[in-house]
Amino acid sequence: MGSKIAIIGTGYVGLTTGACLAHLGHTVVCADVVQEKVDALNRGEVPILEAGLDDLVQEGLRSGQLTFVMGAENAVAEAEFVYLCVPTPQGEDGSADLSYIQQAAAQIAPHLLSEAVVINKSTVPVGSTRVVEKALGRSDVFVVSNPEFLREGSAVHDFLNPDRVVIGADDQGTAIRVAGLYLGLAAPLQVTDPASAETIKYASNAFLATKISFVNAIAAVCEAVGADVNDVVLGMGYDKRIGNAFLRPGPGWGGSCFPKDSHALVRIAEDAGYDFGLLKGVIDVNEDQFARVADKIERMAGGSVDGKVVAVWGLTFKARTDDLRDSPSLNIVGRLRQRGARIQAYDPSLEDASDPRLEGIEVTPDPYAATAGADVLAILTEWDEFKWLDFDKVGENMAQKRVVDGRNLVDRTGLVRRGFTYEGIGRS
Ligand code: UGA
Repeated sequence: MGSKIAIIGTGYVGLTTGACLAHLGHTVVCADVVQEKVDALNRGEVPILEAGLDDLVQEGLRSGQLTFVMGAENAVAEAEFVYLCVPTPQGEDGSADLSYIQQAAAQIAPHLLSEAVVINKSTVPVGSTRVVEKALGRSDVFVVSNPEFLREGSAVHDFLNPDRVVIGADDQGTAIRVAGLYLGLAAPLQVTDPASAETIKYASNAFLATKISFVNAIAAVCEAVGADVNDVVLGMGYDKRIGNAFLRPGPGWGGSCFPKDSHALVRIAEDAGYDFGLLKGVIDVNEDQFARVADKIERMAGGSVDGKVVAVWGLTFKARTDDLRDSPSLNIVGRLRQRGARIQAYDPSLEDASDPRLEGIEVTPDPYAATAGADVLAILTEWDEFKWLDFDKVGENMAQKRVVDGRNLVDRTGLVRRGFTYEGIGRS
């Protein structure tokens, strides 16, 4: 028998959580504040690019186990469990802004069933479980932390095949009730206190960001000493203590999570009296990486991009998503535009240039059009399809056959054979 669940917020975490919980047999009502979004979702139209999510939403709508409503208060009346999945954007001082969480909690408080469990899935500073308890002001409902570890682009897969489920609760009984929602998932379950659960989330993202900054720093060393970072990572990864996951060099890390969460953790530590110099260094290396890749493209264009045409493949923060938030590609493109470059860009997930963040960029309908008359081609996200394009045609299109491969994605040997000048990341 499934449980009755409400989800507050239908961003990629809320929507994935709702659709997956309905798939697991629960009855789920999702609430949002945007009428058009709610209407579209009730028609089975998913506003984000997320593998497998359309199918699950449509399955839930057909079975009646998934519905969408306007307004948090209209979702919770019968709910035994309420997930808070609202944004926690970065505030001006780097800390996470909790106002959406507090608003949502205050809004649902009068409508909650007695004994309901409010589950915090938004990424929140340590201690926020208490903030939610306070905003709810109800001694007969429980609040737990249950952080999400979903990657955009594979969120459905990650939800249904988690590495672990972490539940931070003050009492064992509530933790067991929440654990029951995930029966059927083959994953280790960790029950801990709320502060530790919240810290697990921040520490995990900070560690992953550290791995990437580390490999990008090693890539810089490789360039200086004449080594090949791909071989270095391969050699390191055979050591089981290191592993090879999350050690792909690139243009720097971005997205809606790592930048915000790393800054927030620096701030959390600072407020608690600890100077997290290591994590500050990780953030600095990342900022440097944007600059290094922009400089590399400029050098490849002949020392200046002023008045030059730079073709860019990939604008989102990584492949298999249409998310432009904190995209390293857009950061680098911004730097090049400031230096006078004309940008012709293609991204498989973007149909047009209607997003205001793309202002000043000529978005082309296919990858070849982006290379027309270009002085240099920069590959900035790792879409698989970029590997298999006709590089003879690309070469004929370009004014100069020069490629900066910001993801070490394409076949260097093949390109050199076709007369391209090629530079990757960390490969001299
Ligand atoms: C990240 C975490 O991976 C999830 O576990 C977490 O749940 C999520 O944040 C979150 O907090 O909600 P996501 O932001 O979707 O997921 O993106 P990642 O796949 O982690 O990639 C982040 C950035 O690192 C991207 O810009 C990506 O291109 C870059 N990256 C990743 C590399 O440059 N090299 C790598 O080896 C891996």
